Amino acid sequence: MRRNEAVSKKLYIKTYGCQMNVYDSARMAEVLAPLGYAPTAIVEDADMVILNTCHIREKAAEKVYSELGRLAPLKARRASEGGRMMLAVAGCVAQAEGAEILARAPQVDIVLGPQTYHRLPEMVARVARAGKAVLDTEFPAEAKFDFLPASEAPAAVTAFLTIQEGCDKFCTFCVVPYTRGAEFSRPAADILVEARRLVAQGAREITLLGQNVNAYHGAAPEDGVWGLGQLLRAFAEIPDLARLRYTTSHPLDVDEALIEAHRDLPQLMPFLHLPVQSGADRILAAMNRRHRAADYRRIVERLRQARPDLALSSDFIVGFPGESDADFEATLALIRDIGFAQAFSFKYSARPGTPAAALAGQVPEAVKRARLAEVQALLAEQQRAFNTATLGRVVPVLFEKPGRHAGQLVGRSPWLQAVHAPAPAAALGGVAPVRIIGLGPNSLAGALAAGAT
Ligand code: SAH
Ligand code: SF4
Ligand code: F3S
Repeated sequence: MRRNEAVSKKLYIKTYGCQMNVYDSARMAEVLAPLGYAPTAIVEDADMVILNTCHIREKAAEKVYSELGRLAPLKARRASEGGRMMLAVAGCVAQAEGAEILARAPQVDIVLGPQTYHRLPEMVARVARAGKAVLDTEFPAEAKFDFLPASEAPAAVTAFLTIQEGCDKFCTFCVVPYTRGAEFSRPAADILVEARRLVAQGAREITLLGQNVNAYHGAAPEDGVWGLGQLLRAFAEIPDLARLRYTTSHPLDVDEALIEAHRDLPQLMPFLHLPVQSGADRILAAMNRRHRAADYRRIVERLRQARPDLALSSDFIVGFPGESDADFEATLALIRDIGFAQAFSFKYSARPGTPAAALAGQVPEAVKRARLAEVQALLAEQQRAFNTATLGRVVPVLFEKPGRHAGQLVGRSPWLQAVHAPAPAAALGGVAPVRIIGLGPNSLAGALAAGAT
């Protein structure tokens, strides 16, 4: 009966931060499945809890400790009932703070960095055997991707696939080069095997992921090295793969081959998240972004020439050290000139160990708050305008899952807008023409248009 016992173990994973963490959480679940762990959505039932954490801003990192505080009594209760709840902290806070987590939160059993997920079963076994906490935040020589099992479960309609990890850019505000390590591109052949498997399991859209995805330079299947443009071309030849996206990109790594991919590949969706951070050259230089505002404008112009219906998203930081009113105005001007379909904006958060944290001219909190409100109002207005422009139009929607109401499906437009519409369950996983008939706060309302099957 041992096997049945093993099969009944429950795994609860909470994921913070970026899409790379979403991908990694799925990989950790796969690695633990052979040990008998099945996912649960109820934390109280879990035999193992993993917090997959994010260190990008102070708030993100702090959330982990408050969550650990909530988990401590659950773990104690389980122990008093003679059971055991194993607690693991993974991801970027684990990488950045390592042993400090074990000191601050003694209820934690395992601390593991993003590069050691393939060793998780071994760590679980060690904790179970010795009862002592395990810390593994190495950057091992072996590539974790070579050790991760291939999932056999059906894939969702939209899937993530990590093709590149780490970052060598060292923007002065950012922890990622420290938490994720040096840039690494997976070989194209391995990526394509994973992509074909995802499609065979039901995926119709794949988002290629990387901290710096367009810095991709992986070994080509035959000889030489491929950039992202070439890799996208190979993806476009996979039958039944309706849509392609990639994120997150850096302006410096937008090359001609990538622009041509936008021009030539109908599967590559006309929506691009291209962070610029600031519209002021002084600030861009202090951020070590290695491009000016004019470079960004030019790149966007070239992309739009290649793909006229391309919509843009971006990231902005307000209140970076030394940011003057005039610098902030330059950011607003860039936003007005480019016009974004949506965007993320953040108050600068000083991160320990990054160069910007030690710069003079830290901006007062009240100024940051006011600037954030202003930039967010402008971005919200642009997003509304972009969504309003789709009203009455027929757009292709890839239906991903059932909607909140019976008889309804939810999907996305090419521009990543969520769209819900009454549609038969058989339309799931397919692209259908949908007329946009209403605007909600978080999604568009649609109706299947003539010609839809
Ligand atoms: N690799 C991506 C994004 C990394 S993190 C890129 O190159 O742009 C996602 C976003 O978080 C960043 O684009 C930036 O806008 C924001 N961010 C990163 N560090 C930050 C900090 N210290 N304070 C505030 N925002 C930050
Ligand atoms: Fe961070 Fe800059 Fe690298 Fe993006 S490019 S991950 S912002 S260091
Ligand atoms: Fe956060 Fe790490 Fe992603 S810091 S944004 S989870 S790479």
